[in-house]
Amino acid sequence: MKRTIYITRKLPEEIVGKLSRQFHVKMWSEENVPVPRDVLLKEIEEIDGLICLITEKIDEEVLSKAKQLKVISNIAVGYNNIDIGYATEKGIVVTNTPGVLTETTADLTFALLMAAARRVVEGSDFLRSGEWGAWSLMQMTGQDIFGATLGIIGLGRIGEALVKRAKGFDMNVLYYNRTRKQEKEEMLGIHYREMKDLLEEADFVCLLLPYSPEVHHLIGKEELSHMKRNAILINTARGGIVDEEALYDSLKNAEIWGAGLDVFEQEPIPMDHPLLSLPNVVTLPHIGSASLKTRMQMAHLAADNMMSVLAGEEALTPVIKP
Ligand code: NAP
Ligand code: GLV
Repeated sequence: MKRTIYITRKLPEEIVGKLSRQFHVKMWSEENVPVPRDVLLKEIEEIDGLICLITEKIDEEVLSKAKQLKVISNIAVGYNNIDIGYATEKGIVVTNTPGVLTETTADLTFALLMAAARRVVEGSDFLRSGEWGAWSLMQMTGQDIFGATLGIIGLGRIGEALVKRAKGFDMNVLYYNRTRKQEKEEMLGIHYREMKDLLEEADFVCLLLPYSPEVHHLIGKEELSHMKRNAILINTARGGIVDEEALYDSLKNAEIWGAGLDVFEQEPIPMDHPLLSLPNVVTLPHIGSASLKTRMQMAHLAADNMMSVLAGEEALTPVIKP
């Protein structure tokens, strides 16, 4: 008899077809609306596998309803939406999608950095508003990228991929990581700094560490106060790492120069959020890994993880509780 899996969002036919050959597939059929919590709480009861997105909070309440769940396959590399500790206690394997999205997310991180530094969105809006009277010397002046100092907080897969982009722009690259990676320093031509020193020296600070309660508001009022007045903060990690109220104050008072944000404490960000009123912030709707090719690779990897575990084999990319 086929095992039953539940997919929490409509996925491309190619992926659903592949899974349907092996499993009885149930799916929330909306593309842009997350599965309602009460539906998830009901569906989880009788399934063997769950394929979910970061929009689903797979916490103790959900997991305690599962009677036969063997595997949760998250279509993302970050897994802070899942209570890994409780899942592990229940013997449920959790998988994610590392690697396949690394380069694409590094591209987007660098794109945000460039857009914020050179006022790309603001400049486009300015032109379209009809306010562009004439070319003038100090109009829309931004910050230089070539030769500037980049500080990366969280030198993992994506952080390392970002270094390659930065090196093409002759940037001086500093990093802070939970564990110092001395072997990478010479290899990549980068320098370790304690976080405060990095914040004080960098022209661009990029956050690329995973979210956990331990790093909630890691970047707050004090950390922002260490940054240079010309500095730009880029967050493509998770919204909860930055205290958005403190960031707003810092940007509004010109204590830092700008920000590029792909992620927010609440997603979608409420339209009356103060950060959206600032011209010196570039905002994107959490699209770090959103190239067509990469999103398909992520979905395939999530499906392959599901198939491996339910076939009694090792997961391809299991999440190991730190
Ligand atoms: P990764 O390879 O696991 O790298 C994470 C790095 O952060 C590791 O080097 C880790 O150090 C370090 N780290 C962990 N906790 C830290 C802390 N408290 N302080 C400093 N460094 C810390 O992960 P990745 O594949 O690069 O992905 C990173 C994150 O990016 C994901 O978790 C996800 O949240 C986010 N992401 C966002 C998008 C998007 O669409 N915007 C797309 C992909 C990923 P250790 O070596 O000590 O573990
Ligand atoms: C996206 O945010 C991811 O973690 O893959």
